[in-house]
Amino acid sequence: MGTAMVLPNHPRYTKIRSMKTAATLLTVALSFPASLFAAPQPPPPAPHSPPPQPPPPGRAIADAGRFASVLSGLTAAQKTDFANGKVEFLNVETVEGGLGPIFNDVSCVACHFQGGAGGASRITVTRFARLLDGVFDPMTEFGGPLLQRRAIAPEFMEFVPKEATIIAKRLTTPLFGAGLIEAIPDANLLASAATTKPDGIKGKAAMMKDPISGEMHVGRFGWKAQHSSLDGFAADAYLNEIGVTNRYFPVENAPNGKKALLAKADKVLDPEDALAAGAVKSDLNLAADYMRLLAPVPPASPTSASLDGQAVFTQVGCAVCHTPSLTTGRSTIAALSGQRVPLYSDLLLHDMGKLGDGMVQGAAKEREMRTSPLWGLRLREAFLHDARASTVDLAIREHDGEAKIVRDRYVGLAPAKRQALLAFLNSL
Ligand code: HEC
Ligand code: HEC
Repeated sequence: MGTAMVLPNHPRYTKIRSMKTAATLLTVALSFPASLFAAPQPPPPAPHSPPPQPPPPGRAIADAGRFASVLSGLTAAQKTDFANGKVEFLNVETVEGGLGPIFNDVSCVACHFQGGAGGASRITVTRFARLLDGVFDPMTEFGGPLLQRRAIAPEFMEFVPKEATIIAKRLTTPLFGAGLIEAIPDANLLASAATTKPDGIKGKAAMMKDPISGEMHVGRFGWKAQHSSLDGFAADAYLNEIGVTNRYFPVENAPNGKKALLAKADKVLDPEDALAAGAVKSDLNLAADYMRLLAPVPPASPTSASLDGQAVFTQVGCAVCHTPSLTTGRSTIAALSGQRVPLYSDLLLHDMGKLGDGMVQGAAKEREMRTSPLWGLRLREAFLHDARASTVDLAIREHDGEAKIVRDRYVGLAPAKRQALLAFLNSL
């Protein structure tokens, strides 16, 4: 571990300076560096249509998707923030620049790419934990709760420890429209949590401490609503997904908690993503700008079936949790101020019974999960937190706990009504 000092010839900054001179990359083919040791993995997912080229052995990720567009109504300066942020979101980290020593992938876009840079994918990450005398233990001394499945050299590889009794997969979520979600005031979510709902449905606001401001806010990002701000999530992802320490998460993950291994492996001064002299933003803030200014996926044109299905959605009670829209508060970015956000989520935690993932994280208990926003659903290829559902129909049938009554109503629908509901969901 070093100090927070930034050396003028710190390799990371040399790299960034040269990156910045390049215009926004339109097509980036990332082939996985062969020198980086990786655990055996399922075959790479195909990029969303149309594939720009046959996937090479690593994976081809093209920013050719149609949906990575900038919000409308931005100033020229904000559009520049979006373009600069995109460079960071696509940037492939190198070992010299701070990647690892243990990590899950080499860039943000490596997991977030369906429909364009920022999308979801079929890629999952793994969390592990155990019950110790009946109490949830995130196994931090074993390198938990998040597994980093790759390392810069084989001897640093992390594994799920045999002591783990809870193993949970987490599917990559989409980021389209994330700035609008961030701009929804806490007060709206707290008010919605306090409202009495039908069918025994409750809903809890996920109060958490934002790592950036240090203030308490309502979490709304991630399967457990574990973050309230995009900078906070980005800082966490820089450390935990790509192994780049930063001023909010300055301590590198030790492989399975082994500090001696970390000392051998980690040669780059921390924090690896630091503020350059005179700068107010580092890479994580730029990546957050990209996500904040990313437009939502526009819904498909309604059909008579999808319009019927929209009515069924409300009738059976889906809309109680999957709230059709929320409204943003005041933002310094005019395009995010006072906007209606058709996200189809209350952003609250619900006890989902058997569908819960068994993890305690922030305010979320074992069975509590955040209502997934359903906007952009038609671009998705896998559903639910662990990707267990390959179709929307299966995803609905897996609902349990607070959603059980509504789920049973869905199962009991006449086939034509169910088809209409699915047509509606497929138009989002
Ligand atoms: C190894 C794959 C992987 C990489 C690399 C990755 N992510 Fe993610 N991302 C995920 C997964 C999985 C989730 C869901 C995590 C959860 O809730 O536990 C997620 C969720 C998110 C969310 C929350 C979105 C929401 O509301 O649900 C944000 C924001 C995010 N990632 C940003 C980033 C940024 C920025 C980077 C690059 C620094 C990054 N991610 C790199 C897999 C990845
Ligand atoms: C009690 C609240 C609640 C109700 C009612 C509810 N859902 Fe959900 N829904 C959730 C939660 C929470 C998740 C995330 C589950 C998980 O963690 O895997 C979810 C996930 C989903 C997903 C998967 C999205 C993704 O990102 O993978 C779909 C599709 C979905 N719901 C549709 C519906 C439909 C259609 C109905 C009505 C028949 C419905 N839901 C009723 C809370 C609810």
